[in-house]
Amino acid sequence: MERLGVIGGGLMGSGIAEVGARAGLDVVTVEVSEEAAQAAAARVEGSLRRAEKRGKITTADVDVALERTTFTADLELLADCDLVVEAASEVEQTKLDLFRRVGAILQKDDAILTSNTSSIPIVKLGAASGRADRVMGVHFFNPAPVMKLVELIPSLTTSPQTLDRMRGFAAQTLGKEPIEATDRAGFVVNSLLVPYLLSAIRMYEAGYASAADIDQGMVLGCGHPMGPLALSDLIGLDTIRAIGQSLYQEFKEPLYSPPPILDRMVDAGLMGKKSGHGFYPYDA
Ligand code: NAI
Repeated sequence: MERLGVIGGGLMGSGIAEVGARAGLDVVTVEVSEEAAQAAAARVEGSLRRAEKRGKITTADVDVALERTTFTADLELLADCDLVVEAASEVEQTKLDLFRRVGAILQKDDAILTSNTSSIPIVKLGAASGRADRVMGVHFFNPAPVMKLVELIPSLTTSPQTLDRMRGFAAQTLGKEPIEATDRAGFVVNSLLVPYLLSAIRMYEAGYASAADIDQGMVLGCGHPMGPLALSDLIGLDTIRAIGQSLYQEFKEPLYSPPPILDRMVDAGLMGKKSGHGFYPYDA
């Protein structure tokens, strides 16, 4: 695989584009507008420069990676990709529409179309694409250039060859550690993580303790690197809400249902770190 397409250049898409470019692939990232595409380009360059400052990569590596990446609002530029990773917002209708369009745009017969979704059924995305045997879930973790884990999610209609190719690509080309999960909302990690985060948000809503004390409790009491409310801010509160809604829709377990305060915060534009405010304030 030589040419990678990434749809959505937000928190995850920009990280996935960086991972691809650093692995030697040509990467085209598609956003909703030219302005959003330029914002994605700035995110990728900012992250590469931070890695350079920390001594993880050289200036020459940054230059080569930047040369390999393009940013556009034109979905048609995905036509000659070998692999596409869709990382647009966690909205089912948006993803269904993208899979329908991109399924028709891809020119190479063996091109693979994947989604970084956290909770939307892969089988539905495959059906929308018209090439379901070459569609699967590939779930990266945030920040994608740093986190080793990738969940691979074949659906009922994914071919064994597609899974084999992605397993090899994730491990050998990207240097990730893949695990496999079935096509159920949340896969392995979010099925365990999201109810925990939602419980912490409910605890905060009920006034058990301050955000800082809830987080400190889990950092010092359980040895977690970060507390649940700070982690929710990092993931994005809109994304947590969307994953909770999908999990609840699939399993009807009350613990997956987003609490009212999460709805109110998202409706107010408090999305966490990416919007500058969530449970904590952040610099722009
Ligand atoms: P985000 O809100 O940071 O970025 C989403 C991007 O998608 C935005 O820049 C938006 O403009 C773009 N977008 C929306 N509709 C589009 C379209 N039709 N075409 C092209 N671009 C479009 O969200 P984030 O966090 O990057 O999440 C993206 C996906 O990754 C979601 O499916 C989410 O569940 C998943 N994910 C998120 C993780 C996290 O920690 N935030 C971790 C792993 C997966």
